[in-house]
Amino acid sequence: MTYTRIAGTGAYLPEKVVTNQDLEKTMDTSDEWIRERTGIRRRHIAADGETCSDMAIAAAYKAMEMAGIEASDIDLIIVGTVTPDKIFPSTACIVQRRLGIHGCPALDIQAACSGFVYALDLANRFIQSGSAKNALIVGSEMLSRITNWEDRTTAVLFGDGAGAAILQPSDEPGVISTHIHSDGQYEDLLQVPSGIALGYDAVCAEKAFIQMNGNAVFRRAVATLDSIARETLAGNGIDKHDIDWLIPHQANLRIISAAAKKLDLSMDRVVVTVDDHANTSSASIPLALDTAVRDGRIQRGQLLLFEAFGAGFTWGSALIRF
Ligand code: ACO
Repeated sequence: MTYTRIAGTGAYLPEKVVTNQDLEKTMDTSDEWIRERTGIRRRHIAADGETCSDMAIAAAYKAMEMAGIEASDIDLIIVGTVTPDKIFPSTACIVQRRLGIHGCPALDIQAACSGFVYALDLANRFIQSGSAKNALIVGSEMLSRITNWEDRTTAVLFGDGAGAAILQPSDEPGVISTHIHSDGQYEDLLQVPSGIALGYDAVCAEKAFIQMNGNAVFRRAVATLDSIARETLAGNGIDKHDIDWLIPHQANLRIISAAAKKLDLSMDRVVVTVDDHANTSSASIPLALDTAVRDGRIQRGQLLLFEAFGAGFTWGSALIRF
């Protein structure tokens, strides 16, 4: 049987850092409120003119370097994003052109904060079927462009960045299992209610921004991350204590802590980057993964659990022997 292994990881964060203290100067909020409710201390914000594909490419080159491959080796590109460069072509096709490669399949996945886990699930199927040997998967987001900087209830939560991974075939797992789900009935709880059918911000400026029922999203996120973890462990007959590292979507430290508590995992086995990156949607898991791989916490052979939850709602997990 062919399995999928993560051969390399990479990340990119825009240079500009906006701290909670910076936000205190422009809106009615405080560092204390933001840290207590979310764990966030700062976020990276893209420069004017910087694009989703710019960030994706920067992260991709780092992942390629770690995997020891060239752009010409890539035979599948999947980009998870809710902030593509254009309506079409896909950001994945733009990345493909800018990497100077031609012909391989390239597509975007729009699964909000679960985009990277969805991309991993799909690329895993390509690799297991023998259709790809060097898959590039990316989560890249410019949430600052769909954030209403006058709305303190959302503006303090989000940031920009990209994370990437190169996936290759392997005789041993690798990706042990992936689990993805969605339920569209929760559309109204977390959305940017703007677009082709509804019209863009010419109709109503605030509609082009993230709108969220924070309390309802919080409750649902905690319950769903618990159920996806149980599904993943039960499906593989693995005990929760066997997990070396939990790498959850980085939305809020309280959501992450609740997920860790339910798994009986101490926080020193949870990769947390939400304090430095804020919520970067589909980029948050690969950014956290790359951070802990490069600082030496995550070692080859360890058991990793990725958990994601986002707008849709979408949710998913991946159990990985790194
Ligand atoms: N600064 C200061 N005060 C604020 C701010 C702010 N930035 N934002 C809201 N407040 C005020 C509110 O107006 C309210 O004041 P009031 O009591 O006078 O009405 C008070 O703080 C409490 O507001 P709540 O919304 O009840 O605060 P809560 O404890 O629920 O925290 C939060 C809000 C942090 C958004 C929380 O609900 C949450 O984390 N939700 C999860 C949503 C999330 O992370 N979404 C990200 C996208 S989804 C995802 O990635 C999974």
